[in-house]
Amino acid sequence: MKFTASCAALSDLKADCLILPIGSQLKNSAETINKSYNGMIATLIKSGEFTAKSGEVMLLNFPESPLKRLILLGTDGASTPQQIIKAAEKAAAALSKTSSKNALWIGEGVSANTEWLAGIVARNICTATYSYKKTERAKLASLKSVTFWTSNQSAVKAAKAGLKFGAAVGMGMNRARQLGNLPANICTPSYLADQAKEIANSNRAKAKITTTILNSAQMHKLKMNALLSVAAGTDAPPHLIVMNYQGSTAKTKPVVLVGKAVTFDSGGISLKPGRGMDEMKFDMCGGASVLGVMTALLETQLAVNVVGIIPATENMPNGKATKPGDVVTSMSGQTIEILNTDAEGRLILCDALTYAAKFKPDTVIDIATLTGAVIGALGKETCGLLANDKQLAEQLISSGTQSGDRAWQFPLWEEYDQLLSSNFADMANIGGPQAGTITAGCFLARFTKDYKWAHLDIAGTAWVSGKNKGATGRPVPLLMEYLRNKAG
Ligand code: BES
Ligand code: MN
Ligand code: ZN
Repeated sequence: MKFTASCAALSDLKADCLILPIGSQLKNSAETINKSYNGMIATLIKSGEFTAKSGEVMLLNFPESPLKRLILLGTDGASTPQQIIKAAEKAAAALSKTSSKNALWIGEGVSANTEWLAGIVARNICTATYSYKKTERAKLASLKSVTFWTSNQSAVKAAKAGLKFGAAVGMGMNRARQLGNLPANICTPSYLADQAKEIANSNRAKAKITTTILNSAQMHKLKMNALLSVAAGTDAPPHLIVMNYQGSTAKTKPVVLVGKAVTFDSGGISLKPGRGMDEMKFDMCGGASVLGVMTALLETQLAVNVVGIIPATENMPNGKATKPGDVVTSMSGQTIEILNTDAEGRLILCDALTYAAKFKPDTVIDIATLTGAVIGALGKETCGLLANDKQLAEQLISSGTQSGDRAWQFPLWEEYDQLLSSNFADMANIGGPQAGTITAGCFLARFTKDYKWAHLDIAGTAWVSGKNKGATGRPVPLLMEYLRNKAG
């Protein structure tokens, strides 16, 4: 899909669908467009047929006219980024259901920074035209180009930058969604490793990605026994995927992203109940979000250095599987009593986090579908955030707000950490029935003392259940916003 920005006279621009945001009044371009429709829009508003309430969408068809469709988007009352993003999402969804080829989006009718708004528009159009099913995807692919219209030349430049960023984020989200949605018999650890190589092979511009894949023998040499204890019970070979994006000078310390990729989490010997177990194919969404960020970075060419580390394995209960009560020595040297083999995410992450130190990171952020408890606390709306650095936590919260992909912080106080105590090892891998998200965070914090670190628990936000079951591509928007700010 092609995104462009323009400030040409509206009558000179060709499109077969016009998206017109309308706030409390018909102003500027909206008034001009209203006149070209002989006052029709004003009439619709006056009659109450269209109230312009934030997020309201009305599709009008004019099959005989060259401009075949008009999508009215209500923006009255939309003031926060979240509200504007929700409204844009609705209009993008309506657009994707038409068979339009060229869309013209009017960049007015909302009070927002042009670059940001253009980014939101491009991102939402990209994600609205994703479909898991190939047949539907072909249909949605009718949309070829989108022009973002602004009233003046200086805004065009900002809009172009925003469109490029937003389209990249959208592509990254779609990559993460596709990987998340693939069934676990296709999306295995080896499949993810191949994906990482494929992304690196698509290098075309200046900033490039190199990829290294460690196998179990190499992990064994590195003493990653916590990670390997999860892979013990499956026949699928585990991989540690390492991707290195160099967008800045070699001496700039990297941001390291560590993404949990359990391609299927049966629970292991601590087997999960059967109901809804299919959704544990989504337990690799943290890793998928890292691959999504890498995809977006290649597109945007952001001036940052980012290392992606993805520990990838299945969690299965065969005869060689780890048993409750087993003790392993992690790469850090700390010993872990595995009281529950279903608390496996932290076991693969702790070794990956120890390995992360090797890159002398500026910051390390891990992303994981780690605890069911985070859904109890925050629902499916917001992801959990835990961090050992106040400024980093604040930056991530504000990146979440800016991108509409929000996170909320939990404490890492030592009273919670004590719940991990074990009679047989330095720590247990579970902290009991209470404060599950926090004790999981405290566990990880024991492996991240040497650098600035944050943990995003995306168990609630990475996918939706029910009729619209599917991966969301979150938190690619949050992470990309954070990296955009980092690049300055
Ligand atoms: N992958 C799950 C977390 C999860 C559960 C995500 C439900 C989404 C929905 C994780 O590996 C897990 O099983 N966590 C356990 C931890 C417990 C054993 C301490 C959980 O949350 O129940
Ligand atoms: Mn589990
Ligand atoms: Zn899991």
